[in-house]
Amino acid sequence: MITMALISMVLFSCSSKKNPEIGLLMGTLQLERWQKDTSHFVTYAKENGARVIVQNANNNQGTQIQQAEKLLNQGVDVLVVVPVDQNISAEIVRMAHDRGVKVIAYDRLIRKCDLDYYVSFDNVKIGELQASYVTNIQPKGKYALIGGPTSDNNSIMLRLGQINVLSPYIERGDIEIVYDNFAYSWDKESGKLEMEKCLGNNQEIDAVIAANDALAEGIAEAIEERGLKKNVLLTGQDAELKACQRIIQGKQTMTVYKPVQRLAQVATEVACKFACGEEVSTINQTTIFNGNAMVPAILLEPVSVHRQNIQLTVLMDEYQNEEKIFR
Ligand code: GAL
Repeated sequence: MITMALISMVLFSCSSKKNPEIGLLMGTLQLERWQKDTSHFVTYAKENGARVIVQNANNNQGTQIQQAEKLLNQGVDVLVVVPVDQNISAEIVRMAHDRGVKVIAYDRLIRKCDLDYYVSFDNVKIGELQASYVTNIQPKGKYALIGGPTSDNNSIMLRLGQINVLSPYIERGDIEIVYDNFAYSWDKESGKLEMEKCLGNNQEIDAVIAANDALAEGIAEAIEERGLKKNVLLTGQDAELKACQRIIQGKQTMTVYKPVQRLAQVATEVACKFACGEEVSTINQTTIFNGNAMVPAILLEPVSVHRQNIQLTVLMDEYQNEEKIFR
């Protein structure tokens, strides 16, 4: 720990600026994971002598653009953005660049602009983890796909990963996709609505590939209310406390854990470098096409979480609390 702290100090000793100011524009703080992201980000930034101004757009892209303008007027040195809409948020990058400020997209890509950096997880891999876990258990049957909103590029990448895995099963006629939609929002209500529509047309469902845990919460509720006798396999993402509890109770099959503490650390490192006008290390760096340019990116590894490995993953990392999960 001490060695790590010393290394960080060396990494961030910024010659040109004393206390860099970072604007952190969160798309929402509604879900547990975004609260964790924010608190880790602020902690790491503080440790490295940077100040963070956090804004929450409450899922409104117009609000986020106004917040960006305000922070740029206040003179922040760098912006870190969780966009609400992958295309409209490009306006933030243009506004920032007009003032010589760099922008890092945090976990969600900003498309069709000269984005400076992207930090996230391998979202295609997340979709693959979700689909492969359920196809291993249930290689034949009726499947429903309930994605996140298409305003978020992650929803598209997840679906790509899911289809990569499902495609041979569909081709062989082993799996039939009986429902396929992208929800209006990443929340419980949208999940429930989609599942009610799905169950309205299909009584028999073997598996639901849900894009995140909030959607899965609403889906599980719709399944329970319908009183289906059969155990329906259900995926998720984010390793939220409630999802881990559902996994232990047998109401959800798996989730995907994204170690957001590491994501926040990587993002603060890059943000501090940008703020100080220094070069960012290219170790572990890849690039991703955002419809306009190849954007330098760091994509971390997601981890599949299920009943068998909950101890070795989210509990080992102290991402969740054992007593609360098993309560
Ligand atoms: C997505 C992210 C998911 C989930 C969702 C809800 O962009 O990939 O992990 O958190 O947002 O806000």
